[in-house]
Amino acid sequence: MGENKPIFKEDFLWGGGVAANQFEGAWDVDGKGVSQDDVVPFVDLKKATDIPVFDSRESIEKGLTDTVNTYPKRFGIDFYNTYESDLELFQEMGMNSFRTSIAWTRIFPNGDEETPNEAGLAFYDRLFDVCLERGIKPVVTISHYEMPINLVLNYGGWKNRKVLDFFVKFAQVVMERYKEKVEYWIIFNQMNSALTDAYLSLGLIKDEEEDIELAKFQSVHHQLVANAKVVQLGRNINPHFKMGSMNYEMQAYPATSKPEDVLNTVQSDHAQLYMSDVMIKGDYSPVMKRYFYENNIQLKTEAEDATVLKNNTIDFLAISYYLTTVRRAEMGNMLDKIEWNMDETTRNPHLETSEWGWQIDPIGLRIALDKLTIRYNGIPIMIAENGIGYRDVLTPDGKINDDYRIEYHREHVRQMQEAVLDGTNLIGYHPWAPIDIISAGTSEMEKRYGMIYVDQDNLGNGSKKRYRKESFYWFQKMIKTNGQELDF
Ligand code: BG6
Repeated sequence: MGENKPIFKEDFLWGGGVAANQFEGAWDVDGKGVSQDDVVPFVDLKKATDIPVFDSRESIEKGLTDTVNTYPKRFGIDFYNTYESDLELFQEMGMNSFRTSIAWTRIFPNGDEETPNEAGLAFYDRLFDVCLERGIKPVVTISHYEMPINLVLNYGGWKNRKVLDFFVKFAQVVMERYKEKVEYWIIFNQMNSALTDAYLSLGLIKDEEEDIELAKFQSVHHQLVANAKVVQLGRNINPHFKMGSMNYEMQAYPATSKPEDVLNTVQSDHAQLYMSDVMIKGDYSPVMKRYFYENNIQLKTEAEDATVLKNNTIDFLAISYYLTTVRRAEMGNMLDKIEWNMDETTRNPHLETSEWGWQIDPIGLRIALDKLTIRYNGIPIMIAENGIGYRDVLTPDGKINDDYRIEYHREHVRQMQEAVLDGTNLIGYHPWAPIDIISAGTSEMEKRYGMIYVDQDNLGNGSKKRYRKESFYWFQKMIKTNGQELDF
């Protein structure tokens, strides 16, 4: 297919994606403050009888003083200390970009300080310098599930408009500091995960909210305004910046051809894409306005908001893509049951499922890219995450035969080729992850996504030595052909 004609752009970003809170470790050094994720303990879900609650004030406060449980996101894979040798491996793999996030708590440990923490800023200076020396462009997420716990406990998270100002200040500080080193900015990771994860996305403590739905919509509104303000600031700081933001993309299929199922599917797309509609089109969609009106959801807004949103839309849309879902009329309104397709009602019988219940669907990626391209008039799209969690085995001779991962990425890149030929303006692909890191959802190490293996278990035991997996070599060869050849 298209052997001779290049499919991907010459400057296509072949990278890998990670997040500070899942891999840097060093959670309490050089002035770093405590973040939301630092208080989430490891729980062996296989043995747990009840699904633990991590987002209550009680569990957070326990996390602040607990000396018994293990908190894996505190140690990550120690990248804070190993970044130079890890980046050497990334370069060897052929990566020309690296998506990571700046930990808010390294820069403003409590979120509400007047001045930033110089030691935190200096760390990212060093990190980005090493990236650039190795020909790797940093693609930087400003907010990735890691707000200072102080803003959760003492300000009520994103529903408080003050948090918007704190965040904009943080973003301004980092954009000014790294204006010569970073070109691509992803302001929010997966903003639409707010619909399902009010704690990590919005810093809300569910039990303390009188009306959690209203609190979520209000918080998202603040994130949308913050997003637009950061776009505006970024453009002033450096007109060459590429300002983007991110959604998770979970393509929905109707369970049957019954019109009611199809309608529910279309509506659920409107719900999943409501934040990107605002970020790209500059206003809430008619469908969302109608939903707010009919459900008596009254957002508190300020006079400037409409203009700020309208005038500061993003340059590119970043997406994560892992799985698809199934909708049927009985699921209720478009916002009901928008959750990762983890229960039987959303299962697709035509797809294979990973050990963690995630359904594998490369063709869904092409469908999603084509859909977004049409909906957003050809906006540049960056794949910021895509990967498969697997329990890899390290053989005694130091090998990891992860054919399943090669197969996974190969088939997704194949569908990216198709989408580009269909007209998608695709600018980059960042597998999650170039290296094994702690899982966001389950805080495990054993749910591995990397192309580089880290010898460490769920509790942080192990040599931490890095090993190249088979997928490392596949990715390396594929990048050398700029994604033209996939079968090695
Ligand atoms: C994405 C998040 O939703 O999924 C990442 O942005 C996360 O932070 C990734 O790691 C994979 O999820 P998990 O729970 O398997 O780590």
